Amino acid sequence: MKPTDMAKEGAEMTEETEHMIEKNGEKETENVVPAGDAKEMRAVILSGFGGLNKLRVTKKAMPEPQEGEVKIRVKACGLNFLDLMVRQGNIDNPPKTPFVPGFECSGIVEAMGESTNGFEIGDRVMAFVNYNAWAEVVCTPVDYVYKMPDDMSFPEAAAFSINFVAAYMMLFEVANLRDGMSVLVHSAGGGVGQAVAQLCSTIPNVTVFGTASSFKHEAIKDSVTHLFDRNVDYVQEVKKISPDGVDIVLDCLCGENTGKGLGLLRPLGTYILYGSSNMVTGETKSFFSFAKSWWQVEKVNPIKLYEENKVMAGFSLLNLLFKQGRCGHVKTVVDKLFSLYNQKKIRPVVDSLWALEEVREQLVVRDISLNTSVMMSDWRVC
Ligand SMILES: NC(=O)c1ccc[n+]([C@@H]2O[C@H](COP(=O)([O-])OP(=O)(O)OC[C@H]3O[C@@H](n4cnc5c(N)ncnc54)[C@H](OP(=O)(O)O)[C@@H]3O)[C@@H](O)[C@H]2O)c1
Repeated sequence: MKPTDMAKEGAEMTEETEHMIEKNGEKETENVVPAGDAKEMRAVILSGFGGLNKLRVTKKAMPEPQEGEVKIRVKACGLNFLDLMVRQGNIDNPPKTPFVPGFECSGIVEAMGESTNGFEIGDRVMAFVNYNAWAEVVCTPVDYVYKMPDDMSFPEAAAFSINFVAAYMMLFEVANLRDGMSVLVHSAGGGVGQAVAQLCSTIPNVTVFGTASSFKHEAIKDSVTHLFDRNVDYVQEVKKISPDGVDIVLDCLCGENTGKGLGLLRPLGTYILYGSSNMVTGETKSFFSFAKSWWQVEKVNPIKLYEENKVMAGFSLLNLLFKQGRCGHVKTVVDKLFSLYNQKKIRPVVDSLWALEEVREQLVVRDISLNTSVMMSDWRVC
C-alpha cells in the first residue's frame, strides 16, 4: 500500500487533503495570501505551559536574517508529538513563555544574511528551527536549511525532516540495520513509526514488529510485518513469533517498556530510547505520570549488558542539532534521505493539513489521526 493510500484510509478528509498536498507541491501555489504589512507576520504563540487554551495566533514583529541566517517564507510547518510535550512543559529546559513553538518547516527563501553561500532568493527549502517554526516567516542558520527535491511538496517536506532523519539515524547509524534483522517499534502509526517502517522496507528481509491502536491497523498493516494492539502484552506476542526476540528495539514510550525492550533483545541487539510518550496522560503535564514513568525505568547494570551482549543507546535529534553541533553530520543524512525519496523508496505520510488558526483543533484530533499533521502558514480561516 502506498503511503498516500494509508493516509486515505486513516483520515476521512484525505482525498481533499491529497488534492491540497499536490496543489501545494507546485512551485506557484494559487492560494498564496499576500504578505501584508512587511513589518509584521502571523505566528502561533504559546503563552504558558498547559492546555490547548495556551495557544493562539497573534501578530509578531517580522524577523530579519542575521549573519549566517536564511529568511524563509514558511509554506508548511510540521506538528509532532514533541510539540505536544513542549506545550505541556514536559521537556528538559523549556524556553520561557511566551514563545513560538515548532521545530521544522518548509518554504521559500525570501532573504539571506551575510555568509549564506549556496542559497538564493526563491529556493524551495526544508529547515530545522530551534523553536519559532509555527509562523509565516522564520529565520534560521544556514546549517539547518536544505534545498528540497523538485518533486517534493511543501507539506511533504514539513512532515519529512524530523521523522525521517530520526528514524534513519537510529536504524542505520546507531543500530546498524542489516539484511535479515528484526525491529520492534512502538507507535507504529505515528510519524516516526511510519518512517521507520518505510526505511526498513529499503533493506531486504527485515521483519518489523509494531504496536499501535487497533483502529490504525488496517491503514498501516502493509508497512508492518506483525502488528499488535498497543494494549496487548507485546512481549509475549513477539516471543510467540520469534522466541529469541529481536535485533533492534526502538522505544519512544519509556517507563516499563525500557525493561521489556531490553529483555526482548537478541545477543548483539540494540535498544534505543528516543522518547517518553508515557509521560503524557492528559491535556496538561502530570507529575504523577512523570514520576511513574521515571520509577518504572529499568535500572541497568553495565555488567549485565556485557554478560548478555546487549547494546543500550539513547537518541535525541534536537539535542544533536541544537546542543551538540552535529548539523554537518545531519546534512549527510538528509542528502541520503533525499536520494531515497528521489528513487521513490520513501515518501512522508501527511495525515492532514490545517491553517495556523486551527492549531487547537488540530491538537485535539491528533490522537485519532494516523500521522504527521502539517500547518499551512498561508492559509487563513474566515
Ligand atoms: N528523539 C528524537 O529525536 C525524536 C524525534 C521525533 C519524535 N520522537 C518521539 O517519538 C515519539 C513519536 O513521535 P511522533 O511525532 O512520531 O508521534 P505521532 O506521529 O504524533 O504519533 C503519536 C502516537 O503515539 C502513540 N502514543 C503513545 N503514547 C501516547 C500517549 N501517552 N499519548 C498519546 N499518544 C501516545 C499514539 O499512537 P497509538 O495509539 O497507535 O499507540 C499516538 O497516535 C514521541 O515520543 C516523540 O517524542 C523523538
